Amino acid sequence: MKTRITEMFGIEHPIIQGGMHYVGFAEMAAAVSNAGGLGIITGLTLGTPEKLADEIARCKDMTDKPFGVNLTFLPSVNAPDYPGLVRVIIEGGVKAVETAGNNPQAVLPYLKDAGIKVIHKCTSVRHSLKAQSIGCDAVSVDGFECGGHPGEDDVPNMILLPRAADELEIPFVASGGQADARSLVASLAMGADGMNMGTRFIATKEAPVHENVKKAIVAASELDTRLVMRPLRNTERVMTNDAVERLLEKERKLGPDLKFEDIIEEVAGVYPRIMTEGEMDAGAWSCGMVAGLINDIPTCKELIDRIMSEAEEIIRGRLTGFLN
Ligand SMILES: Cc1cc2nc3c(=O)[nH]c(=O)nc-3n(C[C@H](O)[C@H](O)[C@H](O)COP(=O)(O)O)c2cc1C
Repeated sequence: MKTRITEMFGIEHPIIQGGMHYVGFAEMAAAVSNAGGLGIITGLTLGTPEKLADEIARCKDMTDKPFGVNLTFLPSVNAPDYPGLVRVIIEGGVKAVETAGNNPQAVLPYLKDAGIKVIHKCTSVRHSLKAQSIGCDAVSVDGFECGGHPGEDDVPNMILLPRAADELEIPFVASGGQADARSLVASLAMGADGMNMGTRFIATKEAPVHENVKKAIVAASELDTRLVMRPLRNTERVMTNDAVERLLEKERKLGPDLKFEDIIEEVAGVYPRIMTEGEMDAGAWSCGMVAGLINDIPTCKELIDRIMSEAEEIIRGRLTGFLN
């Protein structure tokens, strides 16, 4: 399948693996890229330029295919060394960067000068248009159903994707709720040039996370995610567990008085405990509603090959059949 996204990133299939904290290590990115998609290392998980440079080098040892790095811009007390991270991305010869969280304008000139393609992930048409106007090459349009931060507009992809298609000139991929060939074909029908998956890629053999995380995703239904930190306007869609229900109880009790410090135990520093140690009740971890569509733990190649062959069947069989 050839789309503006496969052409732009030099990949075989229009499937991207979104940056994921404590998941997007070199093993994950290389497995997706080797399977013909675009794998992404999550820059902030590595944290320092030195560690990110090592991870980029490790990924290059595992794949000859293009892969990217995610740079998430979040408000934080100790801001990461973004200029340093950008420097090692450029020096490492990385060809694609996924930006997210905030306007990437400050780093864009450096990435563009180095010939790096930038895909900005955003949750609204207005932010997508902003990304286009500042010179991003593509956008990842992240609907309300997504795992992680869906923004505060709550517009699901059934509306958001056609709206983006109506307004954007640069190509975009559908992100949030994407799991299989049906997702891909539907997204293409709504104007996207490919899809971005997060949660689906965690439940793969190569995902470098504890087995408990993969099993939790397979066991979960589409009813098992919750929105946390809404009162702080930093909404995150997470898998429910004891810590998340405790956090929601605090949100209900404290109402508008809620401060980040009140929920720090449930959200700060919990990712290594969950993703690496498999302590599934340690705190809130991002997970999409798409968990309800995930029933197995294939390799990335099995997953992507299955999506592409079933997409062809849907297009050539089911859809064309309606016209005959
Ligand atoms: C465990 C997890 C961690 C994530 N961490 C990040 C992150 O650090 N930066 C980012 O831009 N997006 C992050 N995301 C969002 C994904 O890149 C992607 O946009 C999202 O998962 C798409 O929705 P889906 O889960 O329904 O596929 C994360 C998602 C998950 C599930």
